Amino acid sequence: MHGGRIYEYAERSGRTPDEILDFSANINPLGPPESVIAAVHAAVKDIQHYPDTRQAGVKSVLTYRFQIEDIDAVFCGNGAAEVIDLTVRQLRPERVYVLEPAFLEYETAARRAGASVVHVPLPDDFSLTHVVDRVHPRPSHGDLVVLNNPHNPTGHCWGRREALEVLEELSARGVHALVDESFMDFRWDEDGLTLIPFVKHLKTVVVVRSATKMYAIPGLRFGFGVAHPDTVRRIEADRDHWSVNHLAQAAAAAAYQETEFVQRTWQWLKAEHEHIKGTWGALSAVRLFPPSVNYFLVHLDSNIDAERIVQGLEEKGIYVRRCDSFRCLDSHYLRMAIKSHMHNEYLWHAFMRLLNQLL
Ligand SMILES: Cc1ncc(COP(=O)(O)O)c(C=O)c1O
Repeated sequence: MHGGRIYEYAERSGRTPDEILDFSANINPLGPPESVIAAVHAAVKDIQHYPDTRQAGVKSVLTYRFQIEDIDAVFCGNGAAEVIDLTVRQLRPERVYVLEPAFLEYETAARRAGASVVHVPLPDDFSLTHVVDRVHPRPSHGDLVVLNNPHNPTGHCWGRREALEVLEELSARGVHALVDESFMDFRWDEDGLTLIPFVKHLKTVVVVRSATKMYAIPGLRFGFGVAHPDTVRRIEADRDHWSVNHLAQAAAAAAYQETEFVQRTWQWLKAEHEHIKGTWGALSAVRLFPPSVNYFLVHLDSNIDAERIVQGLEEKGIYVRRCDSFRCLDSHYLRMAIKSHMHNEYLWHAFMRLLNQLL
């Protein structure tokens, strides 16, 4: 079950979507940038044509922005979700190793591609060598490991060296890796973390990115993958060529030329991280997973009635992400998007009122 089901929340609560405070989807509250809105408006006049199936305009922006030497190493999708699906379908792994808890689409895409799913619980210290140990004893050639960095829902972010060590070892054994960097744009140290520059050396690695979160276009949808050109060629040969519509291409081309918006996002996020650490992080009844991108995970003490908290928030039109549908988590975990300071404060006070009533 996904977050962000705003139309369902509205229907259920008798509110309009505008009256819902949705903390269950992790979307940048500063967006979409004005340049993106303007690009969409300008592109509307061309919707009587089919979209460019090569996505040439947006791909050239992406190669410049991410310093990708070969444009044929890039493929686009209708959100990162489609990029994940295309990748898994093309690689046709026998087994897909998913580090749990995890975004549900990895498992869904694996099953659609006929692969069996191996759930690997993440250890408390997030050590990745644990993953290699788990994959190692099996005949692994052609298997796929999914690494989501920064990780949803914990926010954990692996350093480049640690991630590369594991990917190189997997690669040496013919194991593919899908590195989902859908939330990487929110890291101000992104340039030192992303694995995009390493794809040209590691033929077995596909890096996935999303524009929907950072640039706040989940309803329009755009994502892309970076992989070896041979992999990209095979993916392009076996897909719906029109899935990335003209407006999404125009929006993404504008989005990935933004610099001021990105800086402003990082500034807002740095301040909100401090605020969250000083509020949620100071509560003894709550374990805060330190925020690293635009959401945070908390674990409520077992003596707190988590269901009453969630219901109490929903009665006020506030929707957070219940985590009982994530493997390895339960209903005492809640994930919250980081929104505007005013909304973050509103959530905090609503939560505290409910907590004080319960304790
Ligand atoms: C980790 C992760 N990857 C990918 C996606 C899908 O993103 P998109 O909206 O670009 O399809 C999500 C959506 O929540 C996500 O959490």
